[in-house]
Amino acid sequence: MSIILGIESSCDDTSAAIIKDGVLLSNTIANQDVHKAYGGVVPELASRAHQQNIVPVVEHAIKKANIAKKDIDGIAFTRGPGLLGSLIVGTSFAKGFALARNIPLIEVNHLQGHILVHFIKLLKEENKMPEFPFLCLLVSGGHSQIVIVKDYLEMEVIGQTIDDAAGEAFDKCAKILGLPYPGGPLIDKLAKSGNKHAFKFTKPRIKNLDYSFSGLKTAFLYFIRDNIKENPDFITANKADLAASIQYTIIEILMDKLKKAIKQTGIKQIAISGGVSANSELRDTLVSNAKNNNWDVFLPNKEFSTDNAAMIAITGYFKYLNNDFVGQDVTPLARLSL
Ligand code: KG4
Ligand code: ZN
Repeated sequence: MSIILGIESSCDDTSAAIIKDGVLLSNTIANQDVHKAYGGVVPELASRAHQQNIVPVVEHAIKKANIAKKDIDGIAFTRGPGLLGSLIVGTSFAKGFALARNIPLIEVNHLQGHILVHFIKLLKEENKMPEFPFLCLLVSGGHSQIVIVKDYLEMEVIGQTIDDAAGEAFDKCAKILGLPYPGGPLIDKLAKSGNKHAFKFTKPRIKNLDYSFSGLKTAFLYFIRDNIKENPDFITANKADLAASIQYTIIEILMDKLKKAIKQTGIKQIAISGGVSANSELRDTLVSNAKNNNWDVFLPNKEFSTDNAAMIAITGYFKYLNNDFVGQDVTPLARLSL
């Protein structure tokens, strides 16, 4: 039997989770509302909030899991990628905890964590898990990648963004519409009452399986600016249609390359991960495509789409089984690839 405590602090969510033999016992997340007023995450405020949140969040996760500190066999933490100041808080906490309790310290790549959410077992639910190899579309605020997942800890990136991430495109377009950060979930909500074919935006032409979203954001900005010149109330009068149309374009871009990757690799087990995998239109599009094309689709629980420590704990669990530990000299890394 092994019990792993996972810690996530790479951006603006402080989270702790307990996993026992692959089964999730608790997953506590403290969101930081402080960034809303600034239209994006302010790194200095994020690290300060992590410092305030980390101890109560860990205590809550342990209490909710109904275990004692002494029952924990290993502590896993996000080493990167992320904001350095935020990562330092989680890394320092994990080091101190490992030292105090004399248990192994396990470093986790945040991106690997997002992908491995598909292997979190839930206490009350039997969930279907992908088999290796499968394709994962990892779409978050910082990353957009197509990955071949060959084993729990063996992954190959076959396509990625050359500029902005999909989540960033959602957030930046939302900001242009005057919505607060993070705008992705708000676009998702607004789009439900809009017409996705109301406005047309050009998709980028990028080679291979790579993505690009910065041109779309600029095109959206100019489109709005030009229309406001004619009608100062353009955004207010068309908010839902604008949200639906830009969301539709982002999803089309994501799906085009995913379909190409499926064709190239012949792999038909498809998973999605990362914050944007919470998007309802992306989920619906994947499910309907799966029906038509005989794909097997894996959608994460929405709670595990955005940043959380359950994903760090499950990755830590697989590393624990491999005796893959690090020493007290480990340092966080703002940049880290799969
Ligand atoms: O994975 P995540 O929590 O953090 C990173 O590792 O980046 O992803 C956050 C991103 C943000 O850009 C947010 O706007 C986006 O995920 N997001 C969504 C939705 N929920 C979160 N984008 C579109 N639709 C959603 N429902
Ligand atoms: Zn993330």
